[in-house]
Amino acid sequence: MAGITNAAYRRLCKEQATAQGGDGLFVCEMITSRGLVEGDETTRRMLVFDDLEDVRSVQLYGTDPVYVGKATEILCTEYAVSHVDLNFGCPVPKVTRKGGGAALPWKRKLFGAIVESAVDAAACHDVPVTVKTRKGIDDDHLTFLDAGRIAQEAGAAAIALHGRTAIQAYSGEADWDSIARLVEHVDIPVLGNGDLWEAADALRMVEQTGVAGVVVGRGCLGRPWLFRDLAAAFAGEQVATYPRLGEVAAMMRRHAELLVEHMGEDRGCKEFRKHVSWYLKGFRAGGELRHAMALVTSLAELDALLAELDPGEPFPVSGLGAPRGRQGSPRKRMVLPEGWLDDAQGGAVEREDADETSGG
Ligand SMILES: Cc1cc2nc3c(=O)[nH]c(=O)nc-3n(C[C@H](O)[C@H](O)[C@H](O)COP(=O)(O)O)c2cc1C
Repeated sequence: MAGITNAAYRRLCKEQATAQGGDGLFVCEMITSRGLVEGDETTRRMLVFDDLEDVRSVQLYGTDPVYVGKATEILCTEYAVSHVDLNFGCPVPKVTRKGGGAALPWKRKLFGAIVESAVDAAACHDVPVTVKTRKGIDDDHLTFLDAGRIAQEAGAAAIALHGRTAIQAYSGEADWDSIARLVEHVDIPVLGNGDLWEAADALRMVEQTGVAGVVVGRGCLGRPWLFRDLAAAFAGEQVATYPRLGEVAAMMRRHAELLVEHMGEDRGCKEFRKHVSWYLKGFRAGGELRHAMALVTSLAELDALLAELDPGEPFPVSGLGAPRGRQGSPRKRMVLPEGWLDDAQGGAVEREDADETSGG
């Protein structure tokens, strides 16, 4: 997730999963192919991995098969990644205007060429390439079944489906039936995504759709222990973590500390600020305290503020199962390149941005 899954957060989430004897694939924030190939500083700075990160997994964005192939090669040779995921799910106008993200699978040939280019570049390093996509552009322009078939033919190792169209953005409910349809349609593993708020939702998705695995998005915002619960749930145990505020505070401290380790105190604390409201969601912690934490500049300051929280306050279970993070409303219309929908077979390449960082 753009702006969230940097090395520090990936480590925190993995620590939670492994504490329960489980694991997972913790994917780096989205990197643009062109940015990587052209040596863009911001892009390169995002490609930081934790020492304990033994499986390096990166999501690439691209609209040009040549750039995507070269970027995949760089990831495999210079960054020793073990997994490359391709982003075809981003719904933001800045991306779809260029025919990127969720708009791209509409151009079947171009989509196939991009996947193939990444798969070819990764193959000699034995690195699997996966695809992440949405149902389509809107209900009249669905792409997921074709995308699944084409990705499979191009050699993708798996496909993840977010059960919303691009025009829905993050609104409404994810359509798990479409995920089940994709499972029926392809032979490669399908990973389901959308509205997994609790570990029990993941089990329910597997049961309802037959997916080989699940992809967690907003559910983990301010809740790295969700991966502990998921590890337990998939091991057949009934573990649900309802941390008291004191344990949440300890988790917040760990998160901030890892960010500071990776980015230095100033940047690390700034990065931490956005997570405060997610961690404290539903707890009684007062507005002034929350506000002060959202402006924190040092670990010492954070410690002093965390000490003001009531460690015994129970987890706000009434908020369980509720959506977290961005939701919003559907877009009024999709911003696409001129004439984009007129030709579903096309292979035209739009010049891609080197600095796209908005995600999925
Ligand atoms: C802040 C944020 C950043 C995201 N960044 C990415 C991204 O870089 N790549 C991607 O494939 N999806 C990204 N997503 C989408 C999620 O991975 C996921 O597909 C979507 O939120 C639906 O799953 P959920 O209902 O579990 O949240 C992002 C979502 C959010 C809220």
